[in-house]
Formats: sequence, structure tokens, C-alpha cells
Amino acid sequence: MSDRDDHTALFRQSWSIYDAIAAENYMFHREIYEIVTRQLEGRAALGPYTLLDLGCGNARFLAPSLQAAPPARYLGVDLSPTALSEARDYLDGLDSVSLHEDDMVGFVAMSGAKPDIIFTGYAVHHLPSASKARLFEACAAALAPGGEMLMVDVARKEEQDRDTYIAAYLKLMRDGWTAVPAAMIEEACAHVAAHDFPETLGGLFEMATAAGFSSAELLDHYGPHHLIRFSI
Ligand SMILES: C[S@@+](CC[C@H](N)C(=O)[O-])C[C@H]1O[C@@H](n2cnc3c(N)ncnc32)[C@H](O)[C@@H]1O
Repeated sequence: MSDRDDHTALFRQSWSIYDAIAAENYMFHREIYEIVTRQLEGRAALGPYTLLDLGCGNARFLAPSLQAAPPARYLGVDLSPTALSEARDYLDGLDSVSLHEDDMVGFVAMSGAKPDIIFTGYAVHHLPSASKARLFEACAAALAPGGEMLMVDVARKEEQDRDTYIAAYLKLMRDGWTAVPAAMIEEACAHVAAHDFPETLGGLFEMATAAGFSSAELLDHYGPHHLIRFSI
């Protein structure tokens, strides 16, 4: 296995699989990103703001939210150059876009940006627990005063261990995501089984509190697909 034959392989080689799944709204992007839009509109009403998008991918789903409430500055970071080159098109027309091919944990810690909003969509569950804890610490330190972190991600139920979660999620994919060709679903299942490490909500809240966030609020969820707001 090369050191780049990792959890981003699906997104570097077969970005179209994630897009095909999301286009059918199987991960509830439509409902969740509508709420994200309202959150960004609320922030934009306070004045110019900077948004940092961790694991931005091609930014296809966040782009309409950004267009509804344009940030003065947008920074996106992702390990996938394929996704980043698509992001340039989806983000066309926004002011001050910068895209960075980098690891999100190191980038937050080192970039020196003081974002008002840190957004992350379906990316943090790829990190091992210790890296998630480091990410929360870096985000708490990086956010501007009054800043917020908006996290869209999968999470386990409190009573589920990882194996039980993965078995349930693969069943959901195979039984329910029937509009996507089965071969694509099998490739996505292999990716989930190998590279998804979701925490419980309680686990995420504990990490955030330990990192210095003062509150964590579940804004909505659709099965295991959650939108959480962490405030400084
Ligand atoms: C499921 S996609 C989500 C893309 C987009 N945020 C969305 O909501 O549609 C996950 C993205 O996270 C990126 N990613 C995973 N681990 C990362 C890391 N450690 N640093 C930066 N990006 C990462 C992958 O390359 C991929 O583009």
C-alpha cells in the first residue's frame, strides 16, 4: 500500500461515486445544507466574515450556501487535488477564494487564519480519535472571538460500537441506495468499511469541551447524518 493509498483514494480516483450518492440525497445534503445556509445568513448579517472549510472536497454542496451568504474570504483545504480542481468551478464568482491541498489538522494549526466560521462536511469521521481531538483543539485556538464551528458528519448511536455502526450503515447503503449502480455502491461500501471512524455525539461533545468550546448543539439529524454547532 502506498502512503497515498488511503482514505482519500475514493475521492481522488472516483469522486463521481460520492457525487452520485449525494445527488440522490442519500446523505441528506439537501435538508442539512439548507440549515447551513440559514446559519451563514445569520453570520453574514453581522458583517463581513471569513469561512474555513475543512475537507472541502469539490465544495459542490456548500457553494449554494456560500452564494446565499457570501463570505469576505473563503479558505478550503482538502487532500484531494481532483476535488480541489472541481471546487474552483463550483466556487467561481465568490470573492477571495483560496484552496489548499493539505491535511486539515495541520492546516488549521499552521495557517494563521482567524476564521469566524469553521465548516466541515462529512470529512472528520475519517480521522482517528486522537486526530479529531487535536482538530478540535486547533479549531478552538484558530477561531476568531465569537466564532463557531459547523460540523456535518456521521455519528454512531451511544450504544453502537464501530463494528455495529459499520454493519448498519452498509446495510442502509445496500438496501436503500438503489438508484446508484450496485458496483459503485460496493466500492463505496469498501471505503466506508475501511476508512470511516465516526464517534458518538457524546464523544464529539466531550472532545469539543475539552478543547475549549463552551457549547455544542445538535441542530438536526437524519439517521446517522448530523449537523452540529460548536461555539467558543
Ligand atoms: C465525503 S467528502 C466531503 C466533501 C464535502 N465537504 C461535502 O460535504 O460534500 C470528504 C472529503 O474529506 C477529505 N479529507 C479526508 N481526510 C482529510 C484530511 N485529513 N485533510 C483534508 N481533507 C481530508 C477527502 O479528500 C474528501 O474530499
